[in-house]
Amino acid sequence: MLTFGTRPEAIKMCPLIIELKKRKNIETIVCVTGQHRQMLDQVLSTFNVIPDYDLSVMLPGQTLFEITVNILTRIKDVLENVRPNVCLVHGDTSTTFATALACFYLQIPVGHVEAGLRTYNIYSPFPEEFNRQAVGLICKYHFAPTELAKKNLIADGKDISTIYVTGNTVIDAMRHTVVADYHHSELDWVGNDRMILITAHRRENQGEPMRHMFRAIRRVLDEHHDVKAIYPVHMNPKVKKIANEELSGCRQIHIINPIEVFDWHNFEARCYLCLTDSGGIQEECPAYGKPVLVMRNNTERPEGVEAGTLKLVGTDENDIYKWFTRLLDDKNEYEKMAHAVNPYGDGHACERIADILEGIIL
Ligand code: UD1
Ligand code: UDP
Repeated sequence: MLTFGTRPEAIKMCPLIIELKKRKNIETIVCVTGQHRQMLDQVLSTFNVIPDYDLSVMLPGQTLFEITVNILTRIKDVLENVRPNVCLVHGDTSTTFATALACFYLQIPVGHVEAGLRTYNIYSPFPEEFNRQAVGLICKYHFAPTELAKKNLIADGKDISTIYVTGNTVIDAMRHTVVADYHHSELDWVGNDRMILITAHRRENQGEPMRHMFRAIRRVLDEHHDVKAIYPVHMNPKVKKIANEELSGCRQIHIINPIEVFDWHNFEARCYLCLTDSGGIQEECPAYGKPVLVMRNNTERPEGVEAGTLKLVGTDENDIYKWFTRLLDDKNEYEKMAHAVNPYGDGHACERIADILEGIIL
């Protein structure tokens, strides 16, 4: 059984569902918590995945308490009914944590996809770092995307025989989505200008840090007239409010609703660079040689910083302004990042995970 509930989990689990469904020896059950509603459904429709169970937990402006309690309460019956040989969870969301905890209470083995990423600061990203570490404690199988993630798990005391380095399934997802012949009205709007992509949503950035990000971006755009930015705003009402207050009226930015992952991945493959505090985008853009300025104070993806595909620029307006300007004006700096090698996999992570699961279950 695979359980997930938010947009990024869905993007990274759907290619695995597709792979597992090809395996005749495995029965694949999909349970979504519905922690996200519209943004989850967009992904399910792109990958043609129809869940067997849907807990429909999302509430407008939900708290961590509501998500956790509602998932715990509602998933119990599903888990007791299905009694999977393995329940797979993904990454670091509240869906991931609550599902793993429910499995623990029912003594159902859990496999963790995207295991072992760490900042070692449980308040940043919040609450994701805690979620990922806590799930690591519960899991029987750890599917680590990189060797560094494996090392982190070994340092945590995990038995090496339970850790598998697979690559990140998001690169597999892009094999389903990115196409050569692609058109979109937003790309027509950008025309021959340089296309910048923007996203921001982290809880710890809601407030002043996010205002700093948007002010910096606005200043840089005012000084560069050959640049246009596309910003699909996360559906969180707190994020929407700040984005509208800081960015409305800027003619070089299109503020749009979240777009289907099919479109977003094709935008990424064609952009100049991306400014973000997202996790997944740090792995995706570099797969197409697109530099990412990470607007956070730390990252659980230091492999990308080390490889040179990511630049950790923090959340101070002047730092973001400086780095964004530099990548627009300094061709050498840009080329260095664009040609660095993405460390997050070769697009075959799902096959590896499915092979391992066949070995475990059969
Ligand atoms: C969640 C995850 C975060 C992940 C992010 C990906 C937790 C604690 N946070 O954060 O790790 O990086 O998803 O986007 O698990 N909303 C809608 N429709 C949607 C989705 C969200 O209206 O389809 C609104 C709702 O008002 C919801 C709010 O956004 O209450 C926040 O959603 P929530 O899942 O609590 O937090 P995210 O910030 O999305
Ligand atoms: N994404 C999308 N549509 C958009 C913006 C982003 O499908 O309009 C995808 C993107 O490809 C990436 C994922 O959403 O895979 C990132 O989700 P988010 O930033 O919400 O979460 P995080 O990765 O930080 O947990």
